[in-house]
Amino acid sequence: MAGVALPRVLSGIQPTAGSFHLGNYLGALRQWVALQETAQAFYCIVDQHAITLDWDPAELRHDTLASAAQLLALGVDPARSTLFVQSHVPEHVQLSWVLECIARFGEASRMTQFKDKSQREGAAGSSVGLFTYPVLMAADILVYRADQVPVGDDQRQHLELTRDLATRFNGRFGDTFPLPEALIPEGAARIMDLQSPDRKMSKSLPPAGCVFLLDDPKVTAKKIRSAVTDTGREVVADPVHKPGVTNLLTIHGALSGTPVAELEERFAGRGYGDLKKELAAVVADFVTPIRQRTQELLDDPAELQRILADGAARARQVAGRTVADVSDKVGFLPPAGARA
Ligand code: TYM
Repeated sequence: MAGVALPRVLSGIQPTAGSFHLGNYLGALRQWVALQETAQAFYCIVDQHAITLDWDPAELRHDTLASAAQLLALGVDPARSTLFVQSHVPEHVQLSWVLECIARFGEASRMTQFKDKSQREGAAGSSVGLFTYPVLMAADILVYRADQVPVGDDQRQHLELTRDLATRFNGRFGDTFPLPEALIPEGAARIMDLQSPDRKMSKSLPPAGCVFLLDDPKVTAKKIRSAVTDTGREVVADPVHKPGVTNLLTIHGALSGTPVAELEERFAGRGYGDLKKELAAVVADFVTPIRQRTQELLDDPAELQRILADGAARARQVAGRTVADVSDKVGFLPPAGARA
């Protein structure tokens, strides 16, 4: 479509486990891949966000590369999207500082993810980086002047903060940032833990409830077999009374492309066991080629690093323009010799 600018998309994912999980895929990554067709996409492995909680440097390095391999295996195409590592593009942190100076302590204090994640250490013992995490996330988005941000439901509040900061900046310094819209998938916005279906699937809960994409399908089948279901036998979606079964139906529906109502019909008169068996097969079909492709990509780390370096160079061109514009608007003196 000549002359029509494509919407700009930005999203990020933390490299905090050796493998992504089904919640990441169904809530966000599936949209990342689909959006490449219709948008100018920037996808970022947010290693700087990953050090807001305790971390191991060697693991972080490995997980960053493993994240890149998985994103490519899932279908992120570096020819169509800009795939890069956050710390390779220092403009994110540069913009983040400016945004920190217009963000209010009170609004950052209201972020529920900070409250959740700081529970273990308590607010006083948590890192300042964990507290300012959402502002860095806002910078990730705004430094590309992104229009759309594909994320799961748990990021909704961070997106609202991003819009608030953009509005405040625009109001004070003139129109600079579009207000980014969260793209939250219907149906799969919140995949729940298999053992605690009242909590979202997460790598920080015990592994028995989390389906990692790189798990051996035999391990996954066992996790699904042991998933907490509910009293009764009927396979029907009912988030209030049957959160466990509803979650299994949601995952099945989202992966197999079958409407949940159709699954309810298919499993009418059959028990939970049948649903679990079929779901394990659906997940195995999905992950098997991805596991294989990820391994192949990891066998050539130099090529992965080349793809990431190329992505960072492209990202910096866009991010650099925003930081120059913002620096000028807020009154930073340009270094002598800098081109206007
Ligand atoms: P992260 O790394 O925790 O998760 C990556 C993406 O996966 C989604 N997600 C889920 N979706 C559905 N059900 C679940 N159980 C589930 N668990 C995770 C998340 O919503 C997210 O979209 N703060 C972000 C990373 C980030 C970012 C950004 C995202 C940093 N900068 C800029 C977008 C734009 C995070 O921690 O995601």
